[in-house]
Amino acid sequence: MKAFGIALLAASLALAADGQKSPQKEEADALKACAEAVLAGVRKIAPMRDVRFEGKVSEANALCRGGDRALQFRDTPWVDWSNYWGTGDDTSLPKLAPVVSKSVAFRGVAGALTDLEFQRVELIKFNLFDNAGTYQQFIEGRDGTAGPALKLWPEMRLKPDNPWFSQVGGAGPQECKGSLIRGRTTTGICNDILNPAMGSSGTLFARNVEFESTFPESSQAGYTRNRHGDRLGLLQPDPQVISRRLLTRIQSDPAACGNGFGLPGNAATANCDYKKAPFFNVLAAYWIQFMTHDWFSHMEEGHNAPEFMKTGCESQLVNGVPTPLTPDQVKELGCRPDDQIDKGYVADDSAPGTFTKGGRQYLTRSPKVMANRNTAWWDASQIYGYDDTSVRRVKRDPKDPAKLLLEPVAGQKGPGYLPLLTAEDPKNPEWAGQESAAFPDNWTVGLSFLHNLFTREHNSFVDEFRRMAAKTPNADCGLRDPANPKKVIRYKDVTPDELFAAARLVVAAEIAKIHTTEWTPQLLYGEPLYKGMNGNWNGLLGTGDPEVSKALSNIIVNNFGKSKDVVKTTQWYSVFASGPGIFGIGSKVHGYDITKPEYTNGGVNHFGSPFNFPEEFVTVYRLHPLMPDLLEYRDLNKDPNKIAEKIAVINTFEARATDAMRTRGIANWGLTIGRQRLGLLQLHNSPIFMQNIKLPRLDTKTGQIDILALDIIRDREHGVPRFNEFRRQYGLRQLTSFDDFIDHSLPADSADRREQEESVKAMREVYGQHVCDASKIITDAQRNADNTPINDCLGHPNGSTVDNIEDVDTVVGYLAEPVRPHGFAISETQFVVFILNASRRLFSDRFFTSSFRPEFYTKLGVDWVNNNGPGPVVMEKGAPNGHKQPVLPMKRVLMRNIPELQAELDPVVNAFDPWARDRGDYYSLEWKPRRGAESDDAFKPPAATTAAARQQ
Ligand code: HEM
Repeated sequence: MKAFGIALLAASLALAADGQKSPQKEEADALKACAEAVLAGVRKIAPMRDVRFEGKVSEANALCRGGDRALQFRDTPWVDWSNYWGTGDDTSLPKLAPVVSKSVAFRGVAGALTDLEFQRVELIKFNLFDNAGTYQQFIEGRDGTAGPALKLWPEMRLKPDNPWFSQVGGAGPQECKGSLIRGRTTTGICNDILNPAMGSSGTLFARNVEFESTFPESSQAGYTRNRHGDRLGLLQPDPQVISRRLLTRIQSDPAACGNGFGLPGNAATANCDYKKAPFFNVLAAYWIQFMTHDWFSHMEEGHNAPEFMKTGCESQLVNGVPTPLTPDQVKELGCRPDDQIDKGYVADDSAPGTFTKGGRQYLTRSPKVMANRNTAWWDASQIYGYDDTSVRRVKRDPKDPAKLLLEPVAGQKGPGYLPLLTAEDPKNPEWAGQESAAFPDNWTVGLSFLHNLFTREHNSFVDEFRRMAAKTPNADCGLRDPANPKKVIRYKDVTPDELFAAARLVVAAEIAKIHTTEWTPQLLYGEPLYKGMNGNWNGLLGTGDPEVSKALSNIIVNNFGKSKDVVKTTQWYSVFASGPGIFGIGSKVHGYDITKPEYTNGGVNHFGSPFNFPEEFVTVYRLHPLMPDLLEYRDLNKDPNKIAEKIAVINTFEARATDAMRTRGIANWGLTIGRQRLGLLQLHNSPIFMQNIKLPRLDTKTGQIDILALDIIRDREHGVPRFNEFRRQYGLRQLTSFDDFIDHSLPADSADRREQEESVKAMREVYGQHVCDASKIITDAQRNADNTPINDCLGHPNGSTVDNIEDVDTVVGYLAEPVRPHGFAISETQFVVFILNASRRLFSDRFFTSSFRPEFYTKLGVDWVNNNGPGPVVMEKGAPNGHKQPVLPMKRVLMRNIPELQAELDPVVNAFDPWARDRGDYYSLEWKPRRGAESDDAFKPPAATTAAARQQ
């Protein structure tokens, strides 16, 4: 290593000969810094949470990986890697000879990936907090095994009241066998064969933050009290005031927006202003709603607990004191004091136990715990069901029970549409008239689109299987029955139920693949995340020698995975899994035997903490600002470049979604939501319609609710720490005043800068200030740079007036972040939560690791997932962003199941990039039409659209 450093130093001296601060000189300085960084040695994983990485590197590393630009931003709270070479568009590429530029860009991107892997490893080490009773074992270990190396928990056994209790072993050792392990079960039990209850419906949400930091509203003691004094409550600061003052979309022409309803007759001249993401489409917004309906729900059958509560619009701070709003102020804000909502369910609010280790007292769980009503697995349960009730809404085709039911709709082509809910189906009255789906709540036209699409995909797989069965009825289809493992199952032997179960596995894996390799790289549109996400799925070696990948995968599973050494089984495992990829890890083991858990379960790694989503994950998925108010409706058979109508999103909600889908057809909706840009996740960019939504189930004076205020209230109900402590808990740098929400590198007179300053002013009024007391320690999650504890003054002089930055709600804080890595639709605070949980969702699921095998999926199923559909891999034209790559899975699913869209999709590389956009050469964010879409209305300057509108 030292020799390498000295060689770099020599190279830098040679390049520096001309002494100018030319690109060559900058590179010479950078190389010198690289040498210094190498000589200083590799950073160690933090031994304790309060000295962790924080995404900030040494000066030498910043200069080495990003040159002078990376140095400029080292004093901000935001992560450094986004300023490295090659992590942005082509302006982030160095201006040197092409070969040198390429290698410098590689250095920047590799540096970013290194930082991200450091974050992931430290997140695994410091941010897993299970609520189900296993946390004490995680800290203390059990029977000589350290906590993070534990793989089996008594708490993950099925309870005696579970119908499968005796089948898995009853009161004795529990192990899932036979039919219970063949596919994804309704309630999600037996994914982990030895921990049957893990991730199943009704199990508890976990946490990613120390239990002591949760529920800051009710804490009467300790750091939390010091952090917030008595300033916080469920409705304090007032959530509806926050919504109206900080989240409302400001309209240049309110009449054209019609309060989010547009204009009569869906006139295309309507306009609701919203800040748009040039590189991400409305399909992507609906996609993530579709995903959350698979992963988690606090609600049961579309409702919360029976009691109702107020939702604010009552007070605002005046000189730091909550003061009732006057009727005039209420009118001016536009909020509603009479709104009420049903309280959230709480599964257990009894006092948690405590234990002591190393002189420190710990809570065994958070003070209140909530249940996840869905299966936590990525199992397409929004389509196939997650409990006995939801499964009754899943309709099989009586003509071929391996298929899901689709029915013809008059005037529409293709394989048909989802049937409607019938009188016999279990349902909340609000769902009447909707399509039948396992998860029918908050039904939108986008959900209708995606449910219809993946129902068609399920049936496409069944059709292809049946074709193969007709052609080669006696061939081995790959499937095996664990109760009779030696028996070859031929194509012709497969029962409809077996084929249905295999199709579900395939659809769920395709969805996971789309999310990992297509949706996320477009959400985080840049080279590091393209590489990182493909690394999670195919491995960084994915395109290299498959034998090397296989060998590495086996080493990881057999050596690191089985090790009782905590460092090997957690840190090494995570780092080395990026080589072969997480997906399929442990599935290519010699002598694989489906009757033995060491094979079927051998590839999962829970890192010592049973898998479920943490409450904090739900918080960062409160992505309501993604939705526009109006959908720019287009007709494929007329002129796809023309916005024919503007349809209010609220008029495509619940049964109106179904009606819109059936009358206008799936292809037109695909075109519509594929071409339109979604809303940026920023302050002052939340949909107007969501502030005024009518929910018929609310038997209240107004019958209305402000969903954006509710997002804040629900997080408070769930005890999510406020933004600054949230960041400290996740190993990100804290903010010290509202001014940190201003990007000081922007020109003082720029519109963005002025807007940020306005927002900061409003935050100061809404959240207030206080006189600080340096004797109050407010956290133990981090320490100051000089190793002193962080106190109430956050570095300001004792007794000075400081911003109540500690009180900012996490949703508000992440929307306010002024600096984001290039092409990031989300903020870095949201992203850090994904780094941990997105990879755990794969690491923990045996059907994505060691059970990704023909014995479960069929041979056709394994190939279908690997090749993105039937037949061999189809390659994309050219090399988008410099990569030769397969046609991505969502594009294939769309083309296969909605063939009317084939011509439209042909030039599209990523189905979540607005379909008519020219992607440029290297991660361009420009809003420019591709060839053939020059006349698309969405590319006309807003002034031209408005002027045209006025003339009509
Ligand atoms: C027309 C579009 C949408 C409507 C009308 C809508 C409406 C709602 C409503 C009424 C709730 C329940 C609030 C409660 O009582 O706790 C909710 C929750 C939620 N929504 Fe949306 N939503 C929409 C789109 C989206 C999108 C695009 C996302 C993106 C991820 C999203 C994410 C969430 C999340 C994470 C929750 C919390 C769920 C939970 O607590 O388990 N929603 N939404």
